[in-house]
Amino acid sequence: MSLKDTLAYTYLKNTNLTLRSIFRREKDIAPSPPFKEYPNAPRVKLEIEDFPETSSLFQILAERRSKRNYRRLEISKEEISLLCFATQGVTAIAGSYLLRTAPSAGALYPIETYLAVNFSSEIAPGLYHLNIREFSLERLAEGYFGEILKEIALGQSFLSTASVVFIWSAVLRRTMSKYGERGLRYIFLDCGHICQNLLLASTALGLKACPVGAFFDEDLNDLLHLDGEEETVIYLATVGK
Ligand SMILES: Cc1cc2nc3c(=O)[nH]c(=O)nc-3n(C[C@H](O)[C@H](O)[C@H](O)COP(=O)(O)O)c2cc1C
Repeated sequence: MSLKDTLAYTYLKNTNLTLRSIFRREKDIAPSPPFKEYPNAPRVKLEIEDFPETSSLFQILAERRSKRNYRRLEISKEEISLLCFATQGVTAIAGSYLLRTAPSAGALYPIETYLAVNFSSEIAPGLYHLNIREFSLERLAEGYFGEILKEIALGQSFLSTASVVFIWSAVLRRTMSKYGERGLRYIFLDCGHICQNLLLASTALGLKACPVGAFFDEDLNDLLHLDGEEETVIYLATVGK
């Protein structure tokens, strides 16, 4: 099969920006709210007293490596707070936009962040959703989900020994209502920025992290009660010790 016969090539080709396509009217895709929140969920307020002293950015860049050998050790709330700040922390307000640590096409922020806390000294094991406006974790389910996540990630055992697993989903409408089909490219780019921030922050804090792209999409959507259409999982990363 030549590359030209793939769906991927067709997608890339058909979503190239050209002088002509700029003026083509995109399909009407209604937008969706910029924030997802679970009003009735119990909350864990995240807190950062001070940013810790760390190595220089360039030292951290030189040190970052995907690391998968974890020892089921507990992660503190402070560490989880710093990691959440690195991924999606609000750093400025511009009108109705909450600008974050990671850039986002059109400041539309299509990525939602979920955490599976496996081992923590201060946060009960369970599935959580990161509330951006409150900087809090909303608890969706209690319990240890490490073994289930390992199965969903094609048996990769480090998902069960990580202290915490970050799970990112995309709310497609947020970006596609503005950018149409091309918006899907931006959604994945957005998520890459977020994940890299997590990897660098983990390195800075002396934690071990690894991105994970291999997982059964539908099973993970089911675990988080996502419909896979309006919102669908796209990427994971483990953090452990
Ligand atoms: C999009 C993406 C998906 C990945 N998926 C997995 C994965 O499912 N399992 C895994 O062990 N590593 C995964 N990795 C990590 C790569 O194997 C790793 O980045 C690569 O071997 C280079 O090593 P380094 O990250 O230590 O520089 C993924 C990396 C990326 C960027």
